[in-house]
Amino acid sequence: MLKRPRRNRRTAAIRGLVQETHLATNHLVYPLFLVSGTGIKTEISSLPGNYRLSLDYLLEEIAACMKLGLKSFILFPAIDEKYKDKLATYSYHSDNFYLLAAQAIKQQFPDCCLISDVAMDPYSSDGHDGLVENGEILNDETLPILAKMAVAQAAAGFDYVGPSDMMDGRVRAIRMALDDNGFKNTGILSYTAKYASAYYGPFRDALDSAPKAGDKKSYQMNPANSKEALMEAMLDIEEGADMLMVKPALNYLDIIHVLKRHSSLPIVCYHVSGECAMLIAACQNNWLEYEKAMPETLLSMRRAGADIIISYFAKDFARLVNTHP
Ligand code: PBG
Repeated sequence: MLKRPRRNRRTAAIRGLVQETHLATNHLVYPLFLVSGTGIKTEISSLPGNYRLSLDYLLEEIAACMKLGLKSFILFPAIDEKYKDKLATYSYHSDNFYLLAAQAIKQQFPDCCLISDVAMDPYSSDGHDGLVENGEILNDETLPILAKMAVAQAAAGFDYVGPSDMMDGRVRAIRMALDDNGFKNTGILSYTAKYASAYYGPFRDALDSAPKAGDKKSYQMNPANSKEALMEAMLDIEEGADMLMVKPALNYLDIIHVLKRHSSLPIVCYHVSGECAMLIAACQNNWLEYEKAMPETLLSMRRAGADIIISYFAKDFARLVNTHP
């Protein structure tokens, strides 16, 4: 035998030398759920270990993460039903607790990277990402609402706005509105290839944001399609996106790979709530070992081509690295 691949796997030192992909805490973004009020910390039953937090607890949580070297956060608001309306007007209202929270976070932790969510669903009485009329999700009429929301978020201090709505032309509309309002340094993390997935369940439980009628298939992508993701990526690049996202992650590693090969922008993947919940459930049953399965899962996304991973496991990974460097 002239070739013996096992020679390069013989010792830990050799394996370290030939390791192709690395995963570090600075590749990770931690999603956090915000509720209004104080002293609130409610566990999300379908996503154990994750909570809806009021701002006081949220600031403590961010402080704990920053100590672990985890510095990037994506923030989602759980909105009381009484603030929801057809036009999602609360999303850019000056009293909006989500915007006030972002200000407080950036004031207390100027070194963190804070990412927003731009979509109508948390604020919409219809529970859809766009404006609904006679059962139809209107595209062009939604764009000015998203642009207003994005400008309000930029003013609150978010480093990146994250349009997750999948309306056509929204990256351009948001970029132009940001520039017109003096926010040329606020970035756009575009949900480029967001699929109509069954894996968003725990997230919708957390925010009470499931659609009141119908589904999201007329705007989110068909899980069967890959070429379409490339077209979405080309449009987002032209329209001025700073980062491209694939969502979900684990069931869409091939899409991450395709986007990585065809774009020089950073590729982000969203390891979504249902994907994390599956692993948590298996580990709670002692069917899998969390401390081994969790990093292997995250590493697979890096190997596929993700530069940045948004995951509910971010803090546990940071903790693991701190205890076993
Ligand atoms: C909504 C939004 C969703 C997620 C992020 N932003 C849900 C949806 O599209 O219904 C899902 C994230 C997750 O499941 O962790 N604009």
